[in-house]
Amino acid sequence: MTRLLVTGGQGFIGSAVVRQAVADGHEVVSVDAMTYAACMENVAPVANSPRFVFEHADICDRAAMDRIFAHHKPDAVMHLAAESHVDRSIDRPNAFVTTNVLGTCYLLETAHGYWISQKRPAGFRFHHISTDEVYGSLGAEGQFSENTPYAPRSPYAASKAASDHLVRAWGETYGLPVLITNCSNNYGPYQFPEKLIPVVILNALAKAPIPVYGTGDNVRDWLYVEDHANALLHVLRKGSPGRSYNIGGESEARNIDLVGMICAVLDRLRPWSASYAKLIRFVSDRPGHDQRYAIDATRIRTELGWRPTVSLAEGLERTIRWYLENERWWRALQERDGVGMRLGLTR
Ligand SMILES: NC(=O)c1ccc[n+]([C@@H]2O[C@H](COP(=O)([O-])OP(=O)(O)OC[C@H]3O[C@@H](n4cnc5c(N)ncnc54)[C@H](O)[C@@H]3O)[C@@H](O)[C@H]2O)c1
Repeated sequence: MTRLLVTGGQGFIGSAVVRQAVADGHEVVSVDAMTYAACMENVAPVANSPRFVFEHADICDRAAMDRIFAHHKPDAVMHLAAESHVDRSIDRPNAFVTTNVLGTCYLLETAHGYWISQKRPAGFRFHHISTDEVYGSLGAEGQFSENTPYAPRSPYAASKAASDHLVRAWGETYGLPVLITNCSNNYGPYQFPEKLIPVVILNALAKAPIPVYGTGDNVRDWLYVEDHANALLHVLRKGSPGRSYNIGGESEARNIDLVGMICAVLDRLRPWSASYAKLIRFVSDRPGHDQRYAIDATRIRTELGWRPTVSLAEGLERTIRWYLENERWWRALQERDGVGMRLGLTR
């Protein structure tokens, strides 16, 4: 058993980590500022566990972070707190720099001070959770490896790239035992209703137009969120300090094909007089829209023995069923600021 401090634990991926870590027998402290993207219900399955504690705090608040570390004495940090929506980063990049760059810097300072106060335990880990978007955009061929040069193209990706560099610097300069993971697009239960897959499901259910950016030929590699949570706990246990690991789903799909797959599942699970695919509308593209992401996951597979277990077809089926069964959850979130609006076109 390990005592984990998880930042962003009330968000989409963070809550999947929290739920899985508690189920695995770890003690978990979730630190979350409860921004528009957070939801207490995401951790409801473990909220009453004696192994779960919630600290409502902002990672930019040094005093609060120092207090939380001193009080809970974590064995490891899993840092997921971030502003995470590319379209919002186009409208309001400052918030992304504040949380993703400065917030990560403050958290590193706190973690480093705490690590020294504990006499530099060799088993301590600062695990930074990042994205494949730091590598930029691919053409039709090739994959991102851990040695691909960073070339972020959106304010979100740039802020995550900066945070990765800071984490690496704290490892090299101060000897903090850091781990970095760069993962492809996630999907699954509890994903905030502004991200592509929930937007498609919920617009289809509302018989509203299903927006597809540009021509829909952008390619993403999709990973089921529970596979990602599992990979993160795996890297935390087995990864070598100072090393980074790419995580992918082995499931590349063009956006338009992904939307077609979702419509086909809904046609079966919630039949309508027409196919939901009739609702698809091509809309103006995201500025600077990355064409293709693809992950070379050789390192995590060969060095750590991890690979995804849920296929895209299976994961979509599970996800769609979850949204059909959890209407109360997503209806409440649709009331939040900016949800349902076209963001990221205004500059
Ligand atoms: N969603 C993806 O497909 C994906 C893929 C790869 C990597 N990631 C990374 O994984 C992490 C989690 O992503 P997600 O999709 O779960 O995001 P999310 O937006 O669903 O959740 C982010 C959480 O962080 C919290 N938070 C934001 N600012 C904070 C602050 N200043 N202090 C404390 N908490 C704060 C929010 O309240 C929220 O609970 C992010 O770092 C993201 O960059 C996401």
